[in-house]
Amino acid sequence: MGAAERVAVGGPTAILGGALAGIEVRCMACGAVSPGDRPLTACPVCGGLLDVVVPIAGPIDPAVFGRGLPGPLARSGVWRFRPLLPAIPDEAIVSRWEGNTPLYRDDRLAAWAGLDAGAVRVKHEGHNPTASFKDRGMTVGVSHAKAVGARIVACASTGNTSASLASYAAAAGMPSLVLVPDAKISGGKLSQTIAYGAKVVQVAGDFDVALALLRQLTAAWDVYLVNSVNPFRLEGQKTIVFETLEQLAWQPPDYLVLPGGNLGNTAAFGKALRELFEAELIDRVPKLVVVQAAGAAPFAAYWDGGWERFAAVQAETVATAIKIGNPASTARARRSVEFTGGLVTSVGDDEIMDAKAEIDRVGIGCEPASAASLAGLRRLVAAGTIRRDATAVCVLTGHVLKDSDAVAAYHLDDHAGLPRPGANRPLRVAADLPSLERALADALHG
Ligand code: F0G
Repeated sequence: MGAAERVAVGGPTAILGGALAGIEVRCMACGAVSPGDRPLTACPVCGGLLDVVVPIAGPIDPAVFGRGLPGPLARSGVWRFRPLLPAIPDEAIVSRWEGNTPLYRDDRLAAWAGLDAGAVRVKHEGHNPTASFKDRGMTVGVSHAKAVGARIVACASTGNTSASLASYAAAAGMPSLVLVPDAKISGGKLSQTIAYGAKVVQVAGDFDVALALLRQLTAAWDVYLVNSVNPFRLEGQKTIVFETLEQLAWQPPDYLVLPGGNLGNTAAFGKALRELFEAELIDRVPKLVVVQAAGAAPFAAYWDGGWERFAAVQAETVATAIKIGNPASTARARRSVEFTGGLVTSVGDDEIMDAKAEIDRVGIGCEPASAASLAGLRRLVAAGTIRRDATAVCVLTGHVLKDSDAVAAYHLDDHAGLPRPGANRPLRVAADLPSLERALADALHG
């Protein structure tokens, strides 16, 4: 992760910096503690990754969640968990009723994954305001940016972080800057980002190149970085775990399965589980299962090699959201996997798209990267790594409409000269009843 980098925002421009005085961040590498009243994305001492310190004094009663908060914050699926979040003052909080996402049980998906009826649930983060889990982190990141008086907020993105940032920055009345790869990000995500008014820069390179370039910029410019190297963003993403466990009456599944790209979510999930355990809200910790796309799987290779050596890769996958070869949160994600006794695997693009077709077909729907979770679960059950009587929650990170090109390619294009099994192709008919009846007779009875 290079030398210590600091985003030069705050100081004299900070409007609420004093109110953040109690918040601290700690370096996971050297343990140095720094004040949380300024934008830091790396330890000022050694350059390591930072965690927000959330003091947990003893058991927490889940009945406190959402209590005593002003209306808009009580309605947020993030801010209702305030006892487990940094104490950002109310007046800085930028919230769009994020979170509150459904946890679906679907036994067809359980059967497809090879597990018993009732064993699989999916947590649908596509039901957030900008249709991905990023909104949970963004409400905390942008609120912190506002509290420290940031003038411009920025991120590099494969599309979802940028859409979310653009929306939350607009809500806050702050300009936002976004660097995206110049090829292969979904048109829908780019459209959202443009529509919400971010300044979009298409970089001649992939996500890893764009993030490295933005980090150079933020080291020198007065710009607040909200990529997941920002520890405040991860605080919001913890609430995916909090809300899931709350929906399960604090009875953890055996496995919590999620796609891994830049590994911010994996980092956040491990921290969330540790805090829930310390607060005695859960009495056992589910194993995290991180699933990468085979063409973008440096973390899976790192795990396979017994954490001996991490090597970045040149990423390539149909799941453009996780087309990342040098994940920024690798060290924090390793800590999460180790803490939960979890595992890391990878799945091919065909497995991802077949899993997505299953999730779509049962009426739930998700974008390709999200489906890596169910594809990974199925693979691990088939391999005997996960027992058939286990229970699992798969996190669906983004909405089906995020990548409609991927849907069209799966259902409309030929694959190896043939339609995919289960491809759902629209019929084309002349505008008269006999033509319609003939086509339907063939399609429905043929
Ligand atoms: N799923 C979706 C839909 C995503 O957009 C991302 C990341 C991930 C999974 C992976 O999460 O990075 O925390 O491991 N998208 C980022 C972006 C990189 O820019 O939108 P992660």
